[in-house]
Amino acid sequence: MRMHLCPFPRLSLGICSVLLLAVLAAPSQGQDAPAKVIRKGPAKKEPEEKLPPALTHYKGREIAQTMHYTGAPWLVRESREREEECTQLLKCLNVKKDQVLCDLGCGNGFYTLELAEKVGPKGKIYAVDIQPEMLQLLRARLKDTGRENVTPVLGSLIDPKLPEGELDMVLLVDVYHEFSHPEHMLAAIRKSLKPTGRLVLVEFREEDPKVPIKPLHKMSKLQVQKELVPNGFKLVEQYDELPWQHVLFFQRDEEFDKQDKPRGEDKK
Ligand SMILES: C[S@@+](CC[C@H](N)C(=O)[O-])C[C@H]1O[C@@H](n2cnc3c(N)ncnc32)[C@H](O)[C@@H]1O
Repeated sequence: MRMHLCPFPRLSLGICSVLLLAVLAAPSQGQDAPAKVIRKGPAKKEPEEKLPPALTHYKGREIAQTMHYTGAPWLVRESREREEECTQLLKCLNVKKDQVLCDLGCGNGFYTLELAEKVGPKGKIYAVDIQPEMLQLLRARLKDTGRENVTPVLGSLIDPKLPEGELDMVLLVDVYHEFSHPEHMLAAIRKSLKPTGRLVLVEFREEDPKVPIKPLHKMSKLQVQKELVPNGFKLVEQYDELPWQHVLFFQRDEEFDKQDKPRGEDKK
């Protein structure tokens, strides 16, 4: 099966070429971030947000580097539908007209535009990313469609800046494994959901060696649950028919609010 070399450089073009050569020369293992990426606040002139230290590991899993915006063409590659069956993924989300959704870690908006069509003009999509350049690419694609029901949001590493209690669904496609502050992000997502709202995680299947993506960019069902359950989510549904990815639907676990919780990010 063909492996993916997803170009995620974040340095100069010269350095990137060297990195790319190094990657091409290495045994092919699929998607990876060949260069280190963002671990700092997103805003240029905005007041600096106080960020707790970024984690390198969470509950036994190594956290992947953020995919750099120069890799964005990979997200809209022609073969994506064939390889990932994106239409099928959209169908299983069961999106309804007028819903309020968030495409969190939207990149250049591959799923944002599809979701915007599904919710219709009275629905709303918050498209959140931490890279302004990704949002610029999204805006350019939005302009072509004339859609007005998408609000691009520049989130931070700890806060997607969503309204509280309004979201019917927060969708994370190939994003969660990049969160440098998973507990902060999960707490913020939890707050943004309606009581019936869902968090949907789409992650490349770690359990399946035939999925041609590098291990750091894959997650097992078990690991996802190990991380989400202690953060106040319960698994309510799953869709197992995609060729490469898990689709795991979570809701808020209301029991979680009644428990005494330890403070601070648990790095174990
Ligand atoms: C692999 S891309 C996936 C893009 C999109 N979901 C798709 O499937 O086409 C991951 C995206 O998540 C974004 N990201 C990573 N951490 C984030 C965070 N804490 N909040 C918002 N976006 C984040 C990255 O900037 C990048 O654009």
